[in-house]
Amino acid sequence: MTNPIKPVRKIVLPVAGLGTRFLPATKAIPKEMLPVLDRPLIQYAVEEALDAGIQDIIFVTGRNKQVMEDHFDHAFELEKILLERGKTEALAISQSMLQEEGRISYVRQMNPHGLGHAVWCAREIVGDEPFAVALPDELLQSKPGCLKKMIDVYNELGGNIIATLKVPDQETSNYGIVALGHTVQTTGGHCTEVKGLVEKPKPSEAPSNDAIIGRYILQPEVMQALSSKEIGAGGEIQLTDAMAKMIGHQAFHTVEYTGGRYDCGSKIGWLTANIVMAMEDPELAQKLKDVIG
Ligand code: G1P
Repeated sequence: MTNPIKPVRKIVLPVAGLGTRFLPATKAIPKEMLPVLDRPLIQYAVEEALDAGIQDIIFVTGRNKQVMEDHFDHAFELEKILLERGKTEALAISQSMLQEEGRISYVRQMNPHGLGHAVWCAREIVGDEPFAVALPDELLQSKPGCLKKMIDVYNELGGNIIATLKVPDQETSNYGIVALGHTVQTTGGHCTEVKGLVEKPKPSEAPSNDAIIGRYILQPEVMQALSSKEIGAGGEIQLTDAMAKMIGHQAFHTVEYTGGRYDCGSKIGWLTANIVMAMEDPELAQKLKDVIG
């Protein structure tokens, strides 16, 4: 019997944001290239996707983001010098993010109309198949990774899957919030049916405190829902609103995420990610303790 559930092969990474919260650091470099320990932020999302078996990476970029393309390409001068000097370890690190040619695409979001619009900009490359979306600001650290867990659930249930996390009641207005239904048991653990979705509701209007944390597996029909370009919360085209339109027509489940999460779009989240990761590195941990006590 053939499996009717199409595999998730593609991921959309929206990276067109201006990074105003990190000015002046982000005046000339994209916020996605700010390092967290020894890697640019964007690399974590790409590694999470590759670990989940996703092969095709679609960046939705904007002006001044070209340096990201260089990060995922050969650096000929550097590689030549490292090779000549016998620095094989450094050479391997430099080349570790090179994918098979044609596996990385870039599409421009020419107008800043919000997350839903960014995802819609990738519609021609996504085509008629399910795809993942990851918001690189959200650095998620777990083994297996969040996307891997979601794909395992997707491979059993099909449809659409969103990762969620409980947030304090007063923070619902920062997130897409999920109204939950029945619990469903899968091989990898339980997940929950989605009954409704609201983008950034006030605490008094939130259906729960289960927040969307920037990892999605979506069916291609979401692109049709996005094409109506309805304006939602914050005057932007919201992915949450387009997903909400699909509830009732397609399967929709959440997977509750339990690992480490750092909002690297904020200074405190970015700083925390750096410190936590440094403390996990045996070499750096002691030196860091000596400095900060
Ligand atoms: C976006 C989404 C929101 C989600 C959040 C997670 O909002 O619109 O639903 O909860 O990411 O980080 P943003 O933070 O881009 O305003």
